[in-house]
Amino acid sequence: MRAAALASEFGTPLVVYCRNTVLARARAYARVDPDALVVYGTKAFPNVALLRLLAAEGLGADVSTLGELEFARRAGVAGERLVFHGNNKSDTELRSAAAAGALVVLDALEEVERARAAGVRSVLVRLTPGIEAETHRAIRTAHAESKFGLPPDDAIAAVANARAAGLDVAGLHVHIGSQLSRADESVVAVERMVDVARRCPGWEPRVFNIGGGLGVRHTLDERVPEVEEFAGELVQHVRARWPQPVRLILEPGRSLIGQAGLTLYELGAVKGTTAAVDGGMSDNPRPQLYGARYEALLANRADEAATATYRIAGKHCESGDVLIESVQLPAPLRGDLLAVPATGGYTLSMASNYNGVPRPAAVLVADGRAELIRRRETVDDLLRFDPDQG
Ligand SMILES: Cc1ncc(COP(=O)(O)O)c(C=O)c1O
Repeated sequence: MRAAALASEFGTPLVVYCRNTVLARARAYARVDPDALVVYGTKAFPNVALLRLLAAEGLGADVSTLGELEFARRAGVAGERLVFHGNNKSDTELRSAAAAGALVVLDALEEVERARAAGVRSVLVRLTPGIEAETHRAIRTAHAESKFGLPPDDAIAAVANARAAGLDVAGLHVHIGSQLSRADESVVAVERMVDVARRCPGWEPRVFNIGGGLGVRHTLDERVPEVEEFAGELVQHVRARWPQPVRLILEPGRSLIGQAGLTLYELGAVKGTTAAVDGGMSDNPRPQLYGARYEALLANRADEAATATYRIAGKHCESGDVLIESVQLPAPLRGDLLAVPATGGYTLSMASNYNGVPRPAAVLVADGRAELIRRRETVDDLLRFDPDQG
């Protein structure tokens, strides 16, 4: 579909997902190990239509809050395909996870008793293997001081305590971080997980959950491995190090939907080499959070050659509200449509209403048709939360 048609039908900013790309990525994961359970990292974008699309392909969902759990349930994701995470789960969350029949990932020693009391039956234990993944420090999760999971000795104690408490300890979990561009650190993590499993007396895991984390290529100079390469290497490694039968769980988020989404903005003020879009850090805070970089093109003039380097700013009241520091474009004009590719993951899910800006709509596009999968917010939506306005 033409960008101009999408913009005029649904407005801008608009996040446009390509259904076939989502499906291709899901199928690539399924091919890596047909017996594995692949669960979508719902935090990348909790959306019922996307969850439903993935569920129809046999995927489950990794959820970490009541909200994400409810999105997955509304999409019809079965309990045995739900994995419930969180470094600070409330008792309500544990009870809801138990009621949904989710596999709960224990993240702390004190959680063992609370999980049992909440009626949880099956658990994994999250290992923190002490690895500083090569990625932005805000999305590293398995280094020594991480707030997530348990170091090896504590993980072994958690397995023993959980078994003593009568929980079914199905296995172990590890996730070392996100936007990963190499598999070797994850291979070390998997090795440490296998070592921990061997050190648990009288217990053998039925499940190894090897997390998500594969990065998305946002810019032309960025390199990330293919799904088959990255996940394939990890799976082979587990199988080689742990020949006994064990089921694998994979938890990709961004690598399922990141590349599949692009954001369409309308350009407004152009001052010298700075052009402003009609959104910014409220619909995509990743540049501010992680120094994320993007490419962009003028969707309505895609056949014109770039003539200079421009900075793309947002419309928010912060000088740091810069979406792209430097991108080659034809001279931009008010009313042009700017397309920013690879913005499908952790954009709308991290969006805010800063400056009282309603959050954008999202559509799923396939075979020349666009389906609205998230409606645009209105200013009335925002006012609803003021008690004397709602
Ligand atoms: C436990 C866990 N699994 C999976 C994911 C998904 O990560 P990604 O979107 O990088 O694949 C995350 C992301 O934070 C996570 O914390």
